[in-house]
Amino acid sequence: MADTLNTGLTAQQRAEIAASLSKVLADSYALYLKTHGYHWNVRGPNFQSLHVLLEGQYQEEWAALDDLAERIRALGELAPQGYSAFGNLSSIKDGDPEKGWEEMLKDLLTDNETVIRTAREAFPVADDAGDEATADLLTQRLQAHEKHAWMLRATLGLK
Ligand SMILES: [Fe+2]
Repeated sequence: MADTLNTGLTAQQRAEIAASLSKVLADSYALYLKTHGYHWNVRGPNFQSLHVLLEGQYQEEWAALDDLAERIRALGELAPQGYSAFGNLSSIKDGDPEKGWEEMLKDLLTDNETVIRTAREAFPVADDAGDEATADLLTQRLQAHEKHAWMLRATLGLK
């Protein structure tokens, strides 16, 4: 069937934007899984506040996964799904439940920064094509992950 989308974006632009968004989705999924796992396994004298901090972050991250995947679909492309597809697209490693709380937060800080860089790399792909809807979504993800990273740094006693 011929390309039926007539939205002002070419098929190539939509494919390139969707490929960039797929990397953001895969990194976001990996970070979500790790944040939720550390919410379960974090241990230490500040357990309650760490448990609640990570709960807020994984819930925010979970909601964004659907927005990212559905933006890919709205562009007429298929969203990646499944652990192996996400594993191939993301450089973020699984969490380790044996780690101490500081190591867990440092892990999550590094991984939030990875998502931020991936979203920042995707931004000009959307922006140059005039895809404001994707650029807006990426802006929201940048804001959210920069806020998560700040809260993790502050909890670690860093600026
Ligand atoms: Fe929980």
